[in-house]
Amino acid sequence: MTAPMTTRAFRVVSKLRETADTVTLGLTPVDGPQIQLLPGQFNMIYSFGVGEVPISVSGMHGDSILHTVRSVGAVSRAICDADDGDVLGMRGPYGTDWRVADHPGADFLIVAGGIGLAPLRLAIEQVLDHRYLYGRVSVLIGARSPELLIFGEDIARWRARLDTTVLVTVDVATSKWRGDVGLVTELIPKVTFDPSSTVALICGPEVMMRGVATELLDLGVGADHIKVSMERNMKCAIGHCGHCQFGPEFICKDGAIFPYERIESLMRVREI
Ligand SMILES: Cc1cc2nc3c(=O)[nH]c(=O)nc-3n(C[C@H](O)[C@H](O)[C@H](O)COP(=O)(O)OP(=O)(O)OC[C@H]3O[C@@H](n4cnc5c(N)ncnc54)[C@H](O)[C@@H]3O)c2cc1C
Ligand code: FES
Repeated sequence: MTAPMTTRAFRVVSKLRETADTVTLGLTPVDGPQIQLLPGQFNMIYSFGVGEVPISVSGMHGDSILHTVRSVGAVSRAICDADDGDVLGMRGPYGTDWRVADHPGADFLIVAGGIGLAPLRLAIEQVLDHRYLYGRVSVLIGARSPELLIFGEDIARWRARLDTTVLVTVDVATSKWRGDVGLVTELIPKVTFDPSSTVALICGPEVMMRGVATELLDLGVGADHIKVSMERNMKCAIGHCGHCQFGPEFICKDGAIFPYERIESLMRVREI
């Protein structure tokens, strides 16, 4: 097993442009075995000479791990600029996973905002691959505008299923948009679920996760059955440096996915 801080070389074997500022990279190891990740876990990806950032796994394709990256600063921009054949550093896997298999028989409500759909994609596929194990399944997706929606082909495939409800909304529509317009929270009353047996998986901007969680709590979903994926700046990713610490929690090793009951007070703390 590789030491947790050892960065290995990975080659970019595929690159798909999702939106103007977001790409999905497929990465395979230059040497040695592929990293095995669970849905919701993340790797630290290093662009040589620029820096290292945490990025969640967004899928598997053959032997390559997929990471979907939005360019927001120096490091994420350098990773998005990598092309087929380029080499990036990577170490991992880190963090907790969505633990979908812990909830046989549950209704699933999966809520994604923007790039937050990336850490949820494998969890959605896991639920759909074992659809017979679960009750009602609803996927609610929000984006700021239609051209910022990622994974269009996956969304179309999920929507084509008769056993799953998939609703998509945008904050600001274009003339071609025929779907819902408004916040993703406004989709919640449009789907049916039993709050007493519902598991919610939520990933997106913190304000959105708080809004969705608060609404679900009001409807009677248990705080221990609402899971959110937290984002904080990270350095070591193994609970040593304290960079991601809030109260008693290390986001890198106790999260990034937490039951809402454990993280609610931390979500009120602004990152400095
Ligand atoms: C566990 C975990 C999983 C993550 N998974 C993903 C993923 O799958 N895909 C992905 O694209 N990102 C993901 N991120 C976020 C990613 O790590 C950050 O976008 C990255 O660290 C930014 O670094 P940078 O050097 O490019 O930008 P910085 O120089 O750090 O930031 C540049 C500017 O962008 C702002 N910014 C930083 N992060 C974000 C953000 N997340 N959203 C909006 N603005 C931001 C900063 O406030 C700053 O103004 C994840 C973060 C964590 C903690
Ligand atoms: S990033 Fe170092 S303790 Fe979490």
